[in-house]
Amino acid sequence: MGLLNALAFGVGLLTGTQIGLRAAWRRTPRPHPRLLAQILEHPLRLKYRQPAQTVGPFGLAEGMSVLDLGCGTGLFTAEIARQVGATGVVHAVDLQSELLEQARERVQAAGLTTRVRFHHSGAYRLPLADASVDVAVLIATFSEIPNGLLLLEELRRVLKPGGRMGISEEMPHPGYLPAPLIRRQVEEAGFRYGGQQGNGFCYSLLYFKE
Ligand SMILES: C[S@@+](CC[C@H](N)C(=O)[O-])C[C@H]1O[C@@H](n2cnc3c(N)ncnc32)[C@H](O)[C@@H]1O
Repeated sequence: MGLLNALAFGVGLLTGTQIGLRAAWRRTPRPHPRLLAQILEHPLRLKYRQPAQTVGPFGLAEGMSVLDLGCGTGLFTAEIARQVGATGVVHAVDLQSELLEQARERVQAAGLTTRVRFHHSGAYRLPLADASVDVAVLIATFSEIPNGLLLLEELRRVLKPGGRMGISEEMPHPGYLPAPLIRRQVEEAGFRYGGQQGNGFCYSLLYFKE
C-alpha cells in the first residue's frame, strides 16, 4: 500500500471511529471511564483548559458556596477552592468514588481541604439544602448526564435566587454537545441566559436562576 493510501485509510478509520463513538454517546450518555482519568489532566487538554481561565467567566468570589458537579479528578475543584477563599466552601460531587478520591488527594496536596466537601452522589438528588449554592459549575459534565430536565430541576432547587450556573463543554469529549443544543434545554428549563465565552471547540455558558 502506498503512503497516500495508508494515510487515507488511517484518516477514514479515525473519522469512522469518532462518528460511531459520538453517535453512541449521544444515544446513551455515560460517565467518563475512570480508567481514562489521566486524560482529564493531559498536557494537551491543559492547553485549552487552564483552570483559572476556565472558571473565570463564572464570577466566583470570596465566601461563596460553589457546587462543582462532576468534579472528576478535581482539576477545577482546587482552583475554585482558591477563589472562594477561607470563608467559602466548594461542594465537589461525583458519581464515581475512584475519581472523587483523586480529587480529594489533589485538594489535600494543595492544602485546601478545609474549604472542600466531597460528596459521592449522582446529579438528580444532590446532598445539598434548598437555595444553598451561589454558583453551580459543570465542566465537561452536562453531556454525560442522561436526563437534562431532572438535572436542571435539581440545580434550580439547590441554587440561591439569582444564583449562577456555568456550563462548559469541549469538542474532544465524545459526548460534546454544541452550545445551541444545551442553550435550548437550559432556557426551556427557565434559566436566564447570561452569555457565552470561547468558541465551538471549547465554550462556556453562563446562566442565572431567576
Ligand atoms: C469528563 S469528566 C469531567 C471532570 C472534571 N469536571 C473535569 O473537567 O476535569 C465528567 C465527570 O462527571 C461525572 N458524572 C457523570 N455523570 C454524573 C452524574 N449523573 N452525577 C454526578 N457526576 C457525574 C463523571 O463521573 C466524571 O467524573
